Amino acid sequence: MKTEIRQTKDGSATLYVPELNEHYHSVNGALQESLHVFIRAGLDFITAQKQDVRLLEVGFGTGLNALLSLQQVRLYPVRVHYDTLEKYPLAPDLIAAMQFEKFILNPELLDYVPLLHQAPWHQAVPIVPNFELHKIQADLTTYDLRVNYYDLIYFDAFAPEKQPELWTLDIFQKLYDSLGTGGILVSYCAKGSFKRSLKAAGFTVEALPGPAGKREMTRAIKC
Ligand SMILES: C[S@@+](CC[C@H](N)C(=O)[O-])C[C@H]1O[C@@H](n2cnc3c(N)ncnc32)[C@H](O)[C@@H]1O
Repeated sequence: MKTEIRQTKDGSATLYVPELNEHYHSVNGALQESLHVFIRAGLDFITAQKQDVRLLEVGFGTGLNALLSLQQVRLYPVRVHYDTLEKYPLAPDLIAAMQFEKFILNPELLDYVPLLHQAPWHQAVPIVPNFELHKIQADLTTYDLRVNYYDLIYFDAFAPEKQPELWTLDIFQKLYDSLGTGGILVSYCAKGSFKRSLKAAGFTVEALPGPAGKREMTRAIKC
């Protein structure tokens, strides 16, 4: 997919996909959205209960969620196995052109940006001793996920109206089945149809305050 680099309101960069008229992150702030939805409502929530976390991300994209997860893991005595699915990997030149150094101010963390992107696909690679990255080039609609396995899912697909095939009951059933009991799924999306499908798949659904520019986000639990 062809992409263009765009600045968001908190000074962080994202990508715009003209073909879909869609951004990779919120235009109100890519960094703040990722921290709010995936790190605080997802990773921090689960690491308060478990110290060994199996995480699945839908959409590796720019690697921003992975980078911020790594940042968090370096602060705490936890281990994260980070599996991430991506159908359309991005070129390293494009990632360099996004200039992470303009909004990731910790130089030590910045060093991990190329490492995350250069990590081989289809292989679990320790990036630091307590953070293992496993990038999988695959399409969520056809990929067989492990069952009763994950503790946390970052559901970071493009919006339902842009990619309806990723927001079906079949997909949420597959994600539900892939979680262990007590596992959670977090998403920036708070649409009624999304929450109804999650409930139909078996999830208990919570509406949480959203990141800047959005009233709500969703956290769903497999009880
Ligand atoms: C909203 S962006 C995710 C942004 C990403 N988490 C980040 O931090 O940059 C959605 C991502 O899902 C990927 N994607 C689209 N269709 C997919 C599919 N069928 N299976 C897996 N990934 C897909 C896109 O290429 C894109 O990287």
